Formats: sequence, structure tokens, C-alpha cells
Amino acid sequence: MSSVDVLLGLQWGDEGKGKIVDVLSGNYQIIARFQGGPNAGHTLKIGDQKHVLHTVPSGIFNPDVMNVIGNGVVIDPIVLRKELENIEKLGLEPKKRLIISRRAHLILPSHRVLDAANERWKGKNKIGSTLKGIGPAYMDKTGRNGIRIGNIELDDFPDIYKSLVDKHKDILKLYGESVGDDFKTTEKEWLEAVAYLKDYSLEDTEYYLNHALLTGKKILAEGAQGTLLDVDFGTYPFVTSSNTICAGAFQGLGISPNKIGNVIGIFKAYCTRVGSGPFPTEVTDDLGEQIRQKGNEFGSTTGRPRRTGWLDLPALKYSIMINGVTELHMMKADVLTGLDEIKVCTHYSYRGKIVDYVPFRVDESHVQPVYQSLKGWKKDISICREKTKMPRELKQYIQFIEKHTGVKIACVSVGPERTETLFL
Ligand code: GDP
Ligand code: IMO
Ligand code: MG
Repeated sequence: MSSVDVLLGLQWGDEGKGKIVDVLSGNYQIIARFQGGPNAGHTLKIGDQKHVLHTVPSGIFNPDVMNVIGNGVVIDPIVLRKELENIEKLGLEPKKRLIISRRAHLILPSHRVLDAANERWKGKNKIGSTLKGIGPAYMDKTGRNGIRIGNIELDDFPDIYKSLVDKHKDILKLYGESVGDDFKTTEKEWLEAVAYLKDYSLEDTEYYLNHALLTGKKILAEGAQGTLLDVDFGTYPFVTSSNTICAGAFQGLGISPNKIGNVIGIFKAYCTRVGSGPFPTEVTDDLGEQIRQKGNEFGSTTGRPRRTGWLDLPALKYSIMINGVTELHMMKADVLTGLDEIKVCTHYSYRGKIVDYVPFRVDESHVQPVYQSLKGWKKDISICREKTKMPRELKQYIQFIEKHTGVKIACVSVGPERTETLFL
């Protein structure tokens, strides 16, 4: 019997999960996405080619790997079709190497309209959603009104589709809104994309994955978003609508938790967040802008500028605890090159006390970061491939994080390309 390793983000998403899944894919026979949907944007840089994946697992560029979209994922057929057509153009034959769970829920065009209406209704308290229809689709799933991709194979699909869209139209009336003039066009495109997906393998992937484990195949479960966006343990309500944490991998794939192997926690050497919500270590001055430019911190899905700030150890330790992380991968260390001083938040000041845990509320009126300063490094590390050649200050930064978290940093990423990766 084999096991499932889980790879997930420990911050607010965009940690570099896609890059590392691609780099590690050679160690696995199957890569399986377990939650989220096209709100995700996972970037892979192979040579000078950049690819952004939204729904397709990041193992698709490794020709020896099978890819599974699990039951916990929500699928927008229009987005998935575009993604698959791009991959087909590269000659990668995704039809042979992608299996989609019949139980994965569909994002309807009206879910996207509802997402936008809900954000307008929230006004200044808006989540800053990617507006891909994620929240409304998961609401229909848990509200037991959703449509699963397996339904497209059944005769009553047109009826259940119409019935749900009618319901959405009624809900929109409560917001004083409607589906809009271009809805018919979008609906046509969506139904065409549904027809296109019928040529792909829709399966009961829980059987496929469990059988694979029985026959000794190794699976890597690929998370989307990050732990601080988890619907239960993130900075609620400024979160996404799925369980992004390790437990979500088992629920989102139909595998029992006792099959767990390593839990690979991905984090940036600093922090970013896109969208609204608390961010205790945010840096809003010129330095924040400098990190944004150097790290190219603009959303892979929406192009929005990402907010930037220092590494937050109480939050990182929280994520490590919730997920049972067994090894850490530190991304984008190269972005900090050249700084005289690197700050790290080791504690929070919370209600007059210095604490190192994450309280119920982490907005700035409740929590202020307490920093420790470390010396930065000047040497260009993007060409560094050996631990011994790392600048002393980078080694000290790594040791400092390991000491505080109690978990080994197994990998340091020094650039977006596959090969710009250092295993320690
Ligand atoms: P994901 O959603 O976690 O897969 O991350 P994204 O792809 O949204 O964002 C990470 C961004 O950083 C992408 O543009 C990557 O190409 C880039 N990236 C990944 N690792 C590194 C790194 O070590 N250094 C630099 N400079 N960029 C990186
Ligand atoms: P990957 O997988 C970063 C953020 C949005 C918003 C909140 C809710 O690329 O790391 P939603 O569209 O889910 O209703 O948005 O979550 N968000 C992400 N931020 N990376 C992501 O995915 C994200 N997916 C959602 O910006 O604040
Ligand atoms: Mg991303």
C-alpha cells in the first residue's frame, strides 16, 4: 500500500505551489487537485515559457504523470476548456492524462453573476473575490442544490440546469440585479464547453485513486489557495469557500486520512495577500512596492497587485500545526536579495500581551506585529544551486525560521524556473 503526500500553501495563496508540484512531479505517478477552482492561478516556468494553470493539476507538463481533478474542486467548463485547448496546442495530449471526478461541482455562468452581486452588496466589506463564482458554487454544493459534472452525462441535465439558473435569477432579484444582457451568449459558450468536456474521462476517481494506492502508486495531492484562506481556519470572512488545509485533501479526493505520507508546506520568504482582509505584517511604504515589483507580485488569475509584507511566524506556525507539515519549502528567497535588513514577525502584541499564537481576530486594531531584524544578503542567489554556496545571512535566515517552527526547510526556491531550486 502506497501513501499520499500533500502539498499546500501556508499563507494567503500564491506561495509558488504550481512551480514545486511541477518540480516534484517526477517522484509521483499521480498529481491530484483537491479543492478550489479557477480562483487559483498556478504558474510554471519551463525554460522561457510561462504557463498558468487554474483547474488542471500542475503535473500536466510531466508526460509520465496522470492528473486528477478531485471531487472537492469546482469546475467552470469555459475556463477548463480554454486551459485544455492551450495544453492540447502544446502537444501534451491532456485527454490521455487527465481524469475528472464525476462528483466535482460545476460553476454556472449565473454563479459568477451572483458572486459579483454579493460583493456589491457587501460594499466596503467586500472579500475581494476573484469573481469566478467560487462562493456561490460551494454554497449550492453544501445547500444541496449544486450540479456535478457527472450530471452532464445524464438525460435530465438540461432540466436541472434550467431549474438552478431560474433559482439564481430569483435570488438576483433580491439584490435588485439581473443576469445581464450578455447572459445568453455566455450561457451558449458554457453549454458548448460542457459538450467539449464530454470527450474527457469522467470517472469515480475515489475508486481510481484508492486502487492506485493499493497497487503501489504514489500520489501528490495539490492544494490551491492557502491555509490563511481556509473557510474554517483562515482570516474569516476574508477567506475562500473551501477547506484548503491538509484535511481537505482527503475529503476532496475520497482517500482515507490514514494513507497520509509527507505534508509539504510551501511559503514565501515574505508574505503577500491579494484581496481584502487582515494582514498584520503588511508593508505599505516604498519597501512594500519594491518587493511587489521585484517579486512581480501581481495576481496570476486577476492581475491585481498583491499586498506585500514581512514573514509572519505566528501565522506560519499556526499553518504548520493545522496541517501537520513535515517539510517546509521556502519560495522567492531571491526577491529579498539586496536588502540591508530583513524583518521577521516573531510575536504579536495582543491586548497588552506578547503572544505567539493566532488570536480569533487578527485585524490591526487587535494585533500588532513584534519584529526581530536579521541581516540581509547581497550576493545574487538566483544562480546558487548548492547549500554550501549560499550566503551566510541566508543560512542564518533559514536557521532562524527552522528554530522558531521546529520544521526543516527542505527546499529553497531562488527563481521562477524549474531549475532555480535548491534542495537542502
Ligand atoms: P501558486 O498559486 O502558489 O502556484 O503561485 P503563483 O503561480 O500564483 O505565484 C507565484 C509566482 O512567483 C509565479 O509568478 C511564479 O512564477 C513565481 N515564482 C515561484 N517561485 C519563485 C522564486 O523562487 N523566485 C521568484 N522570483 N519567483 C518565483
Ligand atoms: P492560488 O491557488 C491568492 C483570494 C481572493 C480573495 C479570497 C476569496 O493561486 O494560490 P474567491 O475567488 O475564492 O471568492 O476569493 O481569496 N484567493 C486567492 N488569493 N491565491 C489564490 O489561489 C486565491 N484564490 C482565492 O483574492 O481575497
Ligand atoms: Mg496563484
